Amino acid sequence: MTNLNRRRFLSIATTLTGGIGILFSAIPFISSFQPSKKAKALAVAVKVNLSKLEPGSIIKVIWRGQPVWILHRSKEMIENLQDSKVDLRDPNSELSVQPVFAKNAYRSLKPHYLIVEGICTHLGCAPIEKFALATADMGPDWQGGFYCPCHGSKFDLSGRVYTGVPAPANLRIPPHRYEDENTVIIGETEDAENV
Ligand code: FES
Repeated sequence: MTNLNRRRFLSIATTLTGGIGILFSAIPFISSFQPSKKAKALAVAVKVNLSKLEPGSIIKVIWRGQPVWILHRSKEMIENLQDSKVDLRDPNSELSVQPVFAKNAYRSLKPHYLIVEGICTHLGCAPIEKFALATADMGPDWQGGFYCPCHGSKFDLSGRVYTGVPAPANLRIPPHRYEDENTVIIGETEDAENV
């Protein structure tokens, strides 16, 4: 091989090696922009079948890594909400987080279903359900709802916060829509502007 040919060979080999190097170094760079499996899972809506959820019962699902509760309010629960004399900090949900369609006394699309994030709006503890009325631990005026054991915040059966407790706002309502009578999809709405 002449000196000229050797120089050409070295030059081509260097160019090829450099190109391959760029290609290999680009793959992890590009893949770092792809959503991870975990990120994809977090973004996915959750479909829940409600056909076996009895009135007065609650189920808990995870959406975007957060607990979401679905309460099937009984007829009595709905009547108690309508007659409630409880002092609420934000009864009309003016300061609270919910889709536009849930800015009502039931904070829901359908009065008999409450779909709510199970996270206290004070410091993020998990409230517990206290559906029985006037119990010894909650007092004679208790109308049923949720109680946060961390610092004593109370919420009614629509997730609305009582006055005089540390939580500053009602429990959050996630976006959701009904696919049919018995199926709800959490994480989607009929209308994106309605979120
Ligand atoms: S975290 Fe619920 S009352 Fe403080």
